[in-house]
Amino acid sequence: MSPHTLSMRLERVAAHVPAGARLADIGSDHGYLPVALMRRGTITAAVAGEVASTPFHAAERTVRDNQLAQQISVRLADGLAAIEPGDGITAITICGMGGETIRDLLESGKARLSRRERLILQPNGGEPPLRHWLMGNGYRILCEELLRENRFDYEIIVAEYVGTVQYTAEQLYFGPLQMQARSAVFLAKWQRRLREKQKTLIHLGRARQAIPEEKEQELAQEVRWISELLACPTDSSVQPIDR
Ligand SMILES: C[S@@+](CC[C@H](N)C(=O)[O-])C[C@H]1O[C@@H](n2cnc3c(N)ncnc32)[C@H](O)[C@@H]1O
Repeated sequence: MSPHTLSMRLERVAAHVPAGARLADIGSDHGYLPVALMRRGTITAAVAGEVASTPFHAAERTVRDNQLAQQISVRLADGLAAIEPGDGITAITICGMGGETIRDLLESGKARLSRRERLILQPNGGEPPLRHWLMGNGYRILCEELLRENRFDYEIIVAEYVGTVQYTAEQLYFGPLQMQARSAVFLAKWQRRLREKQKTLIHLGRARQAIPEEKEQELAQEVRWISELLACPTDSSVQPIDR
């Protein structure tokens, strides 16, 4: 991967960054995403935030090698602390981290959000708690994508602040729009997950060691939800409720 050839995952993230955006890419690593978007003329300015010094220096190098230091500020900072009030950020990407980590970065950096920026999030697992945070903080999910690359399932969640939005527990679990669209890749992912979870349940039933009752019930509920989802040819009951 390089700023010339992004992975398919980052290409799909890039597709959701609005033209003319001022982007904050948090956890930028080598800075490939903001540099690629700037080279293409998609964005007008960017901040590349990194908490760790090796990727921070790598991002600085990518920006320097592409003569983009005037347009892209690389900052060593924890999460949204990379964003400064004068940046006028209109889109934030946070990609390649667990959903819980992304949620924690959004929560701890809430004061840095103007609520006018588009959030483009690409969690590696842990999507339900992230969607829960979005709902709890008034962000409506505008678009969801699921893609498979190198045998991994990646989700992309695009959200914007609307004030109040309500999703059901199943919508938070599967993704409200994905549940509605029922794409082939979505159904294939949940077929795989169902098999894994059923195996785990059988294994737990056989193993004599006690696991917390709550954990087992949670797993059984997930198996029920997935089975219902896969059994149901179309589902018209999944519209988000805007208030
Ligand atoms: C797996 S890499 C993903 C890089 C890139 N965003 C991508 O999707 O290809 C995660 C990056 O996030 C950075 N990171 C983790 N926690 C962070 C935090 N609290 N603030 C800023 N960066 C963070 C790590 O140092 C690492 O470079």
